Amino acid sequence: MTHILCKTTHIEDPGSKSFEVKIKRKMQEIFVVHKDCAFFAYYNKCPHTGATLEWQEDKFLDMDNALIQCATHDALFMIDSGECISGPCAGDALQALPLSIQDDEIHLDV
Ligand code: FES
Repeated sequence: MTHILCKTTHIEDPGSKSFEVKIKRKMQEIFVVHKDCAFFAYYNKCPHTGATLEWQEDKFLDMDNALIQCATHDALFMIDSGECISGPCAGDALQALPLSIQDDEIHLDV
């Protein structure tokens, strides 16, 4: 099933945005990161405790916009892979979701 999340221009580069979508009959919180003209989607769930990651609405990135940062205990994740490189869940990873871009829209393919 495909969900159209938003226009590509609705997320700054670098930037991030959260969404709520129905996946396998359940509403799920997810987020999309836009960085260097590429888009990445993950479940909004820290592998440490399952907490949501953002520190303000739609703010998932660290101060340098180089990594995804968990607001609860500051775990840092690679934007392109979701791998945790620092913090209490180092070595673990965010759960990625498949995206595609069609006609300037971001599609979530689940
Ligand atoms: S809940 Fe994310 S680092 Fe602890």
